[in-house]
Amino acid sequence: MIDKPIRFTDGAGYDRFMGVWSRLAGQKCLDWIAPKPGQRWLDVGCGNGAFTQLIVEHSEPFSLVGIDPSEAQLAFARQHPLLRSVDFVNADAMALPFPDDAFDLAVMSLVIFFVPEPAKGVAEMVRVVAPAGTVAAYAWDMEGGGFPYQIVSETLSAVGRPAPMPPSIESSRLEVLGDLWATAGLSDIQTRAIEVKRSFADFDDVWNTILGGPSAGQAIAAMSEEEISGFRELLRARLQPAGNCPISLSGRAHAIQGTVPDR
Ligand SMILES: C[S@@+](CC[C@H](N)C(=O)[O-])C[C@H]1O[C@@H](n2cnc3c(N)ncnc32)[C@H](O)[C@@H]1O
Repeated sequence: MIDKPIRFTDGAGYDRFMGVWSRLAGQKCLDWIAPKPGQRWLDVGCGNGAFTQLIVEHSEPFSLVGIDPSEAQLAFARQHPLLRSVDFVNADAMALPFPDDAFDLAVMSLVIFFVPEPAKGVAEMVRVVAPAGTVAAYAWDMEGGGFPYQIVSETLSAVGRPAPMPPSIESSRLEVLGDLWATAGLSDIQTRAIEVKRSFADFDDVWNTILGGPSAGQAIAAMSEEEISGFRELLRARLQPAGNCPISLSGRAHAIQGTVPDR
């Protein structure tokens, strides 16, 4: 692991790298939460709006606010035609700029492991969601091999150029998520694993996807031309050991939801 933080500086590059995955897992998470229409939603760490888009398309929200500290991500979300009615605010999950009980649902989609103090982030979601409302999250099972680009991370480590990692990866463990939700006072806590798969046309499709995204893209950008070509060939050999063919990658996320009790 390198100590540089993951930078979210390109909403379009993020969309190809992670937005596609976010929507695959997010759809399963939304189906599982099964929200009623007409709710006041908060999308915490909304990024470029990948999951926000699903809420608009499938959950008939009464209102929808997305917060994120990355202006580049928010700029991409704000220009999305489907998201014109969404209120996007630059803010931190650990200090939400909203009064108590302002929402019916708060969700973190692929965010909890980016929050330096996850317990503070969960406590903030509980504070701003009204009693009987829902607080939910899903996160890649980072320590159990669920990150969809795990093979890319392992190959970067093999060439001595590990990718930057989120600061709180332990929070993606199911038992840690359960503890966080219980400690925050949520009731009716439920968890589940979500499995998703994505196909890439060929190796160049994977390569261009990771180059434009955060994390692996940052690690590759710091390499010399010679290092890049050695890494590229090693990754190709690992992804296509039998020669050129479509590539399929899988991800596994842990999801959790709980209900805000009466206060
Ligand atoms: C992997 S992206 C997920 C974005 C989006 N929710 C999705 O599903 O695609 C993680 C996001 O968390 C945001 N983030 C990082 N630290 C945060 C914090 N302290 N509070 C809120 N969001 C944060 C990043 O800016 C980034 O947009």
